[in-house]
Amino acid sequence: MTDKILISPSILSADFAALGQAVRDIDAAGADMIHIDVMDGHYVPNLTIGPGVVKALRPHTKKPFDVHLMISPTEILVPMFIDAGADYITVHPDAGPHLHRTLQSIRAAGVKAGIVLNPGAPVEQVDPVIDLCDQIMIMSVNPGYGGQSFIPSQLEKIADVRARIDAHVAAGGQEILLQVDGGVNPVTSQDCIAAGATSLVAGSAVFKGAGTYAENIAALRRNPAAKAA
Ligand code: DX5
Ligand code: ZN
Repeated sequence: MTDKILISPSILSADFAALGQAVRDIDAAGADMIHIDVMDGHYVPNLTIGPGVVKALRPHTKKPFDVHLMISPTEILVPMFIDAGADYITVHPDAGPHLHRTLQSIRAAGVKAGIVLNPGAPVEQVDPVIDLCDQIMIMSVNPGYGGQSFIPSQLEKIADVRARIDAHVAAGGQEILLQVDGGVNPVTSQDCIAAGATSLVAGSAVFKGAGTYAENIAALRRNPAAKAA
C-alpha cells in the first residue's frame, strides 16, 4: 500500500467555460491526477465531456488524466479517449457486454485500466478481472452528478476490496490503486483512508471548498481535526 494518499480532483465541479485554467490551477495546487467524468445521458442521466475536450485539455498539464467513463456501451469509445491522452480509463462492469476484453484493450494501448463499482453493485464483480486492474474505484454516490452526499454503507465495500487487493498482491499480483468517488470531503476522506483507500476523487470539496485549492486538497489527505478526535 502506498503511504501517500493520491488526490484526483474532478473537473465536473469546475467552471466549464474555463476548464484549461481549472486544470492548470489544480495541477499547481498539488493534485496527483485530474479526474474527468464522462457521461453520456444514457448510462447516467447527465451529459458532460467528450474526447475532444479531453484532447484540448491535454497540453494544460503533465499530470495523469484519470478518465471515468459513465457511458454505455463502453467499448466503442475507449479508443477515442486513449487517443485523446487518457492515462487511466475506468469503466463500469455493467456498462458494456465484454468487460474483460475492454480492460485488455485499454492495457494493450499502454493505458492503465480500472473498474468502478456503483453503490448497488456487489463486491464480487472485482474477482474475475482483478488481474487486469490498475485501479479499482468505489462509488460512494450514485453516478451522474457532483455535490451528492457520501453513502456510508460503501465504507464496508472499500474495506472488502482492500482485503481482496492485499490478498492479490500477497499472492504476487500487481499493485492496484483503491479509489473512492463521490461525496468525499475532509471528514469522509478520513473514513475512506481508514477503510483502506489510497486515492480520492473530489469535485465539490476541491472546487467549492472553504479554502484555496491547495488547502482543500491538503485537507483531504489529512484532516488534523478528524485525526485528533
Ligand atoms: C459522479 C462523479 C464524481 C463527481 C464527484 O458521477 O463520478 O466524480 O464529480 O463529485 P463530488 O466530489 O462533488 O461528490
Ligand atoms: Zn467520477
